[in-house]
Amino acid sequence: MKKYTNIKDISNLQETIKEAILLKMNPFEFQELGKNKTLVMLFFNASLRTRLSTEKAAKNLGMNVMVLNVNDAWNLEFEDGTIMNANTSEHIKEAAAVISQYADVIAVRAFPSLTDKQKDESEFVMNSFIKYATVPIVNMESATAHPLQALADAITITELTEKSKPKVVLSWAPHPKALPQAVANSFVEIMQNMDVDLTITHPEGYELNEVITKNTTINHNQEDALKDADFVYVKNWSSYNDYGKVLSQDKNWMITKSKLGDAKFMHCLPVRRNVIVEDAVLDSEQSVVMQQANNRTFSAQIVLKQILEKL
Ligand code: CP
Repeated sequence: MKKYTNIKDISNLQETIKEAILLKMNPFEFQELGKNKTLVMLFFNASLRTRLSTEKAAKNLGMNVMVLNVNDAWNLEFEDGTIMNANTSEHIKEAAAVISQYADVIAVRAFPSLTDKQKDESEFVMNSFIKYATVPIVNMESATAHPLQALADAITITELTEKSKPKVVLSWAPHPKALPQAVANSFVEIMQNMDVDLTITHPEGYELNEVITKNTTINHNQEDALKDADFVYVKNWSSYNDYGKVLSQDKNWMITKSKLGDAKFMHCLPVRRNVIVEDAVLDSEQSVVMQQANNRTFSAQIVLKQILEKL
């Protein structure tokens, strides 16, 4: 693997999931692979799971890790040809090239603005690192994608399914703030590459990018969509068409025990209790959010392993 910025960078998903599950049984098997190699993790936004699990994954592979909260560093300029006489102190051209001298792999987290659709969709932060860094780039959640989370979710479903083709439902749920579409996008993309029966349910106006959803079933009736589900993945996202807007905070879309039926409850975390999902679900054995969070280590580890093997 030369980079991991989108799930399309995985050449064989089934094999990668299988390898990740094997890594989980023997996490220190490839300690020599990362010896004297350094992962630099750059955070433009906050994180709990991604930061800790990716560092743990790298250390499991014997790598050194350096973390930089970019907001504590110089303000970076991403535009070409700009006269830098305002708030930006360093151009991405120099920054990415400099960091590449300290790193064998660079991982980046950079959320969207949710105000400028065109700019967010251009993935200018991730693509600038791809363009100007001289080492592989890993996406720790960008404007439109969260592929490490999606891979962890695919590992979780593979481990827990009791059926050869489980029904998986991605359900929108209310949230007081405008959140990105990245988690939902990558979850849909990875599920489209798995042997699952996928349905998306959300209120009208919350359609995800059609380029991503393609011909996936969309049902605006949540109760109907959830019927016979094996896995219910719950996530809020802001409107894609009315970009970044919170169109509804309808509490009826919150996931309850009675709605969940016998399905397993999934969420990437962090989750707002009794807004997205009621306590009774999150505190029940049907919730697999801890397994998902644990698998973040092994999704990062298999990705870093495949990158290290190509260095
Ligand atoms: N799921 C996830 O990416 O969590 P963090 O934002 O805490 O990294």
